[in-house]
Amino acid sequence: MRDYYDFLIIGSGIAGLSYALKVAEYGQTAVITKKQATESSTNYAQGGIATVTSPLDSFDAHLADTLNAGAGLCHQDVVETIVKAGPECIRNLIDIGVKFTYNKNGKELSLGREGGHTHKRVVHSADLTGREIEKALFTACQEHKNISLFSDHIGVDLVTYDREGKIYCGGVFVFNPENQNRLTVRSAITLLATGGAGQIYRHTTNPRIATGDGMAMAFRAGAAVANMEFVQFHPTTISLIGKKTFLISEAVRGEGGILKTAKGTAFMEKYHPMKDLAPRDIVARAIDSELKKSGDDTVFLDIRHLSSDFVKKRFPNIYIKCLEAGIDITRDLVPVVPAAHYMCGGVVTNVKGRTGIQRLYVCGETACTGMHGANRLASNSLLEAVATAQFAADESISDFKYRTPPDALRLDFPHPTHANRPRERVILTHNRRELKRLMWDCVGIVRSSYLLHEALEKIEVIRDSVDRYFFSHALSYPSLELRNMITVGCLVIESALRRKESRGLQYLLDYPDLDDRNWKKDTLIDRKGSSIWQNNIN
Ligand code: FAD
Ligand code: SIN
Repeated sequence: MRDYYDFLIIGSGIAGLSYALKVAEYGQTAVITKKQATESSTNYAQGGIATVTSPLDSFDAHLADTLNAGAGLCHQDVVETIVKAGPECIRNLIDIGVKFTYNKNGKELSLGREGGHTHKRVVHSADLTGREIEKALFTACQEHKNISLFSDHIGVDLVTYDREGKIYCGGVFVFNPENQNRLTVRSAITLLATGGAGQIYRHTTNPRIATGDGMAMAFRAGAAVANMEFVQFHPTTISLIGKKTFLISEAVRGEGGILKTAKGTAFMEKYHPMKDLAPRDIVARAIDSELKKSGDDTVFLDIRHLSSDFVKKRFPNIYIKCLEAGIDITRDLVPVVPAAHYMCGGVVTNVKGRTGIQRLYVCGETACTGMHGANRLASNSLLEAVATAQFAADESISDFKYRTPPDALRLDFPHPTHANRPRERVILTHNRRELKRLMWDCVGIVRSSYLLHEALEKIEVIRDSVDRYFFSHALSYPSLELRNMITVGCLVIESALRRKESRGLQYLLDYPDLDDRNWKKDTLIDRKGSSIWQNNIN
């Protein structure tokens, strides 16, 4: 890896790779990614991309559904811009080589329906949409002469400098665990596209990479984050003992799947007029409430009434994965529970990915553009990621043209080289487990101020322990990731405590109602304004 690139991108999901393909026309571009290049949430996306392509649908309807799910916190101008960019994003993806599913006539895109959508509008590739997108983008990047891809390289921290009272980003500290190399890679423009942070919870749909690294790196560098309290729990995941959590797409309910209790009673009509296709926050809370009432471990998804051939064709991946777990979804009830799925909050950006730090852009799940408000509408995340990556690329290219050379950069790696104490990794595994349980038990679907204060006290103990470890041991993925997970956990707790109302994904037992004074008010936190982080620089 060289020590300078024109464009340096951290993360190889839909946001990072879409951006790379565009900026690479203008300069040398590096994409670093901490595992193998295609390992990302993008790769596991099932349902698809919400976009208006049917003459029966309209931008106004997509806008209205998004605002409705977002419970008063969506930025309407942002939603409008992204929704209108949808059809062109789909055409671009098709040009790059993504093979979406078409209707029988082979002319129109097949459209799925998911929670909160009043129309069928989810463009998909059977139930493996993310894998298809990731594969096509990755292949195109690999073939581009100006793009270098580096897997097994982890971004540690941003390199920043001050000029005339503004913070600039001049690159990234990078660690390669294979050879223990620490590199300071300078860049004219940097993009953080490191995805979400579902791994801070005990049960999550997210892959191992989703540890909130980009959010924590940007926050440490001085960027503001917003709306971190709004963690989306997907209502339907299979969680079988000893097996990894596996998502059962909302598109299954879109095709007629019905949620039932263990006694076989459909229950969603008690909670919302859209029943099983109500927005996600409502369905997840309804399941939580049914489980608490019955004392059962799971509720069930019933699709036995759909034709077996249709199910196997429409959901081939879900069918096979469930069969491997001993469940034939065409004949059996599917046991499902909610799991942490998506971070609606993130680093504050405008719709073009610009942050409060000059030359630093953030896109995809790491960013908070204002699109999702207090609750993301299903399948709006891939849309937001791909659209904002295009806008951010255009903006970055003009930034790059007018760049001025950086002042002297602080190039000392933020971790001592001599630190090397072996055989104490148990501190990390123990604290990681504790953190995930704490977030699940006290900062989950239903919260209270009491539980949040308890969580705050406990997370500070975990943070002290991990900080001590971090600065006295050799760098490693587990220590870097855990440090970031704790930062993000603290931000979720602090944001949840600040919002004294129930709105969208935040439900507080002691503040069960909407507070009209919070209409359109984001929860903004930066290092200077954070009560938890004021005295802590890590
Ligand atoms: P990701 O795709 O997560 O990519 C992040 C990248 O950053 C990875 O390459 C990772 O290795 C890298 N990375 C992270 N930290 C570092 C670091 N420190 N250094 C270097 N590299 C790093 N949304 C929809 O709209 N429709 C769906 O159907 C849908 N289904 C989903 C199903 C599942 C199971 C999951 C988990 C999510 C789903 N979502 C869906 C959400 C959506 O997939 C994600 O929000 C979106 O893919 C995020 O894209 P991204 O590019 O921001 O991040
Ligand atoms: C799903 O397929 O249910 C996931 C869709 C999403 O998270 O947007």
